[in-house]
Amino acid sequence: MIKGCIFDLDGVVVDTAKYHYLAWKRLANELGFEFTEHDNERLKGVSRMKSLEILLEIGKLSFDEDTKLKLAEKKNNWYVEYISKMDESEILPGVKEFLSKLKESGYKIALGSVSKNAMIILENTNLKQYFDAIIDGNKVTKAKPDPEVFLKGAEELNLKPEECIVFEDAIAGIEAARRANMKVIGVGSKEILKDADMVIEGFKNVSVDILKAL
Ligand code: BG6
Ligand code: MG
Repeated sequence: MIKGCIFDLDGVVVDTAKYHYLAWKRLANELGFEFTEHDNERLKGVSRMKSLEILLEIGKLSFDEDTKLKLAEKKNNWYVEYISKMDESEILPGVKEFLSKLKESGYKIALGSVSKNAMIILENTNLKQYFDAIIDGNKVTKAKPDPEVFLKGAEELNLKPEECIVFEDAIAGIEAARRANMKVIGVGSKEILKDADMVIEGFKNVSVDILKAL
């Protein structure tokens, strides 16, 4: 029986996936190569340093560790500049209503994101109040597709993994949920999120009954 929901943040709750993309694209362009939205799918849900590795592989470039840290910091500074201006208007359609309905129906709610910037986003958008547990990039050592972030979410909710459902927009996140032994609802396109148990386009008019349909 499902008792809790674990939400990814970027691209599920808020539209920050576009800001990650813009900041990585800016870095790629500065380094002299193109970075497309298609390439960007490989970065979703992946940690900052691993994302940089993938980006440099696309650009066929290699740097020493020190330079890589500086490049990642540069990208993060641009990203933080974008998200520092965020407010409630950037919560994706239907999300707040869905979170409220879950609460009213007695489900526990956790955040399961590998972003180290998750807390600033939750604060700027006024969403912190909805979460019984918040797992972010500062609490985990392994990024998705490792299941650590979701297993910690279940643990902090005092639930078994099989009592939780994950909402994810990333291929790596869907694999992480599977490895955590949790059902997973993909948020986005069916073509990309083929391995999810179900895919929804977004949360607009979505009823809590979907949790029973799995
Ligand atoms: C994930 C995003 O939520 O967080 C990734 O999908 C991002 O694109 C990762 O790389 C780490 O985020 P941050 O904010 O710590 O660089
Ligand atoms: Mg995401």
